[in-house]
Amino acid sequence: MTQHLTDSLQTPTGTQPGGWWRDAVIYQVYPRSFADSNGDGMGDLEGIRSRLPYLKELGVDAVWLSPFYASPQADAGYDVADYRAIDPMFGTLHDADAVIREAHRLGLRIIVDLVPNHCSDQHEWFKQALREGPGTPLRERFHFRPGRGADGELPPNDWESIFGGPAWTRVADGEWYLHLFAPEQPDFNWEHPAVQDEFRSILRFWLDLGTDGFRIDVAHGLVKAPGLPDLGRDEQLKLLGNQVLPFFDQDGVHEIYRSWRKILDEYDGDRIGVAEAWTPSADRTALYLRPDELHQAFNFHYLGTGWDAAALRAAIDDSLDAMRPVGAPTTWVLSNHDVVRHRTRFGGDLGRARAAALLMLALPGSAYVYQGEELGLPEVVDLPDEVRQDPSFFKENGQDGLRDGCRVPIPWSGTEAPYGFGPGGSWLPQPEAWAELSVEAQTGREGSTLELYREALRIRREHPALGAGDAVEWLAAPEGVLAFRRGDFVCTANTTTEPVAFAAPGVPLLASGEQAEPGVLPGDTTVWWQVTSG
Ligand code: GLC
Ligand code: CA
Repeated sequence: MTQHLTDSLQTPTGTQPGGWWRDAVIYQVYPRSFADSNGDGMGDLEGIRSRLPYLKELGVDAVWLSPFYASPQADAGYDVADYRAIDPMFGTLHDADAVIREAHRLGLRIIVDLVPNHCSDQHEWFKQALREGPGTPLRERFHFRPGRGADGELPPNDWESIFGGPAWTRVADGEWYLHLFAPEQPDFNWEHPAVQDEFRSILRFWLDLGTDGFRIDVAHGLVKAPGLPDLGRDEQLKLLGNQVLPFFDQDGVHEIYRSWRKILDEYDGDRIGVAEAWTPSADRTALYLRPDELHQAFNFHYLGTGWDAAALRAAIDDSLDAMRPVGAPTTWVLSNHDVVRHRTRFGGDLGRARAAALLMLALPGSAYVYQGEELGLPEVVDLPDEVRQDPSFFKENGQDGLRDGCRVPIPWSGTEAPYGFGPGGSWLPQPEAWAELSVEAQTGREGSTLELYREALRIRREHPALGAGDAVEWLAAPEGVLAFRRGDFVCTANTTTEPVAFAAPGVPLLASGEQAEPGVLPGDTTVWWQVTSG
């Protein structure tokens, strides 16, 4: 495989100095559900490559690919057996190289998913650790412990798995190993130098291949508190994101990101690290983004905020205030492969989902778009149990997850499933109503959600005030309405269902819904305005 670090990456327009990623719109591709090239019902890398022109035309700056590595798929690829190999289901390393090259040719950046907290129980190290038994060196690369109780029949501590049940599984020789997620996902011991070395090498492998950065899975989980102390309570899921836990958001993780940043900086072309970090506060998230650590972190606080003007304004202010001291851009996200699609979360109304999207895309910083949200896809809520694959579904206490409904393959064209997803079927059934939501059905259709996203991204690229900077200037607005100014641009979002009187602050540039009569903001609608004077 030849390197192509300096491939002719066009400079995207509208990017402010100081890094393409600061105001980038990053599109999340979930490989198994994006496009299937060979008809096995599973999306793949060649499918992605063939659809890159669609993403270029949509107007995004970068693409984040969820995992495509060799994996038994116990957690849809977040259980990696070989970090340097592609799962045959998705293609080959040659296909990955082709995706990166083609993306760069089109002026798109590629961010790959890195899963450093845990691997698959089919990873060579773990298999060897199991074979060689207690006390052998490979066991030290994971968290193996004897159990508690007279015969070691109880787990070593009281930690619960995020997917439900104990975070420990006992192996045949009597020892237990730690897995914060599924039993098929053993946690690495990040105190071990071999683990640290291995991941530095994996970073280089993908950087050498030309990737523009990494989305770092469970970035807050790598370091565990010394001695793996009990939490002393159950229902630990309720604590996630509310406090520092002995397995989440330990200060020691920052050492790791400082060492990774050095590697990223050795490469040309602004390679970035994006943290998936669930922390108790925006201030603690900002710690991951200090100048010698990572570049961005997902804004789960924003994702978790309802369609409510006061709550949104507070979340926006908190996020901007927290990132300013470390000089990192804020990010915004409404949907991803782990949560109920925002259209459904906000009550099912397409108009509201569109309004939420325009609000997000008007904010300063970087925005994440999850595949299919540009089509206005709702969550699929009626999947039969027998087709579901999400490991959290099968766990008694893990029902929280139920993540298959946002992972249904997206519709491209035609009137029947799989709607152009591929020449075969689709690994999850698609609803009948999706014919009219397909890319083909929405392309060129005035007022379609796809055309709204395209237009919003076009304006965002051409309008210097959008995406740039680290502040918004709030304007006085009636209850339930958000209004802010950024340079010669104003965004108004009416989060109520009723029309509200509001004097036009300029000339409308784009509206998420029907254009209102002058002086009225329709309910559940966001409007972008160009201020012409003063
Ligand atoms: C992250 C991923 C999620 C996965 C988990 C374990 O939260 O986004 O899909 O199940 O990590 O890797
Ligand atoms: Ca396929």
